[in-house]
Amino acid sequence: MKGNKNMASMGSSGFLIIPWLLLAESAALFSAGVSSGKSTPAVFVFGDSILDTGNNNYLPTLSKCNFPPYGRNFPGGKPTGRFTDGKVISDLIAGDLGIKDLLPPYLDPNLGAQDLSTGVAFASAFLVTQASESIVELYKLGARKIGVFSTLVSGCVPEGRTVGGGEERKCAENFNELAKIYNGKLSFEMDYLNKQLPGVKMVFVDLFSPLLGIIKDPETYGFAVTKEGCCGTGYIEAAVLCNQLSPFTCANTSEYIFWDSVHPTEKANRILVSKVRDYINELL
Ligand SMILES: *[C@@H]1O[C@H](CO)[C@@H](O)[C@H](O)[C@H]1NC(C)=O
Repeated sequence: MKGNKNMASMGSSGFLIIPWLLLAESAALFSAGVSSGKSTPAVFVFGDSILDTGNNNYLPTLSKCNFPPYGRNFPGGKPTGRFTDGKVISDLIAGDLGIKDLLPPYLDPNLGAQDLSTGVAFASAFLVTQASESIVELYKLGARKIGVFSTLVSGCVPEGRTVGGGEERKCAENFNELAKIYNGKLSFEMDYLNKQLPGVKMVFVDLFSPLLGIIKDPETYGFAVTKEGCCGTGYIEAAVLCNQLSPFTCANTSEYIFWDSVHPTEKANRILVSKVRDYINELL
């Protein structure tokens, strides 16, 4: 891939991603890359469910999805602990950067040294202040290129509409306002750290607007269903509530922006990644 050589020549590099889903009350921090020294940059993702590639399998939590119909469009149709029908944003970014097609979860007991040196996904929840602290820690470890991702448009995910969108299930504006406040604070912190940490390059990547853009203009992206997830009724099911016994699960995700009531489909994840590629490329 185009950027890799440059990235390697710069030695240490990194990304950081912080999407946040209101209803999961979690924030996610994706950070990439302390370079392994030679030609391969590494991607480290600190993520909540939207970015998790399967750490939840190894944690005592009800927030699980290592059962069908999750993973229906994953290679082999395998449920892996990814909260979607296929790949998550973490996988797609690692793939885009030419590092690897799937980003393994840190808690996987079969993880090898090679996996670690090119990147893994952690499961954590971060708020703005913790995000800043984590960025400083990463900086101390040598990360110099850091991408910070905004929260999603949490009032417009199906669960947000169900919980706060009234009878018509409109986008819950109060949730969206909270997300905007959070994004504003995060962006401000990033500007501050950009000035404080010598040699660092940080890019704030907005995911809120691109996802809202897809939701507002679904036909352009080949979607027909915006307000319901594919799984179950699409209004509320996610994690353990989205399972093989859930009635009404859609047969084909291709027209759905959301896989369950909180998480986008792989197709939507791919479109999101393509929409922010320019920002990510700024770091290469
Ligand atoms: C889903 O529908 C799309 C568009 O109609 C079609 O191209 C695709 O093959 C279908 N996928 C599956 C798994 O049936």
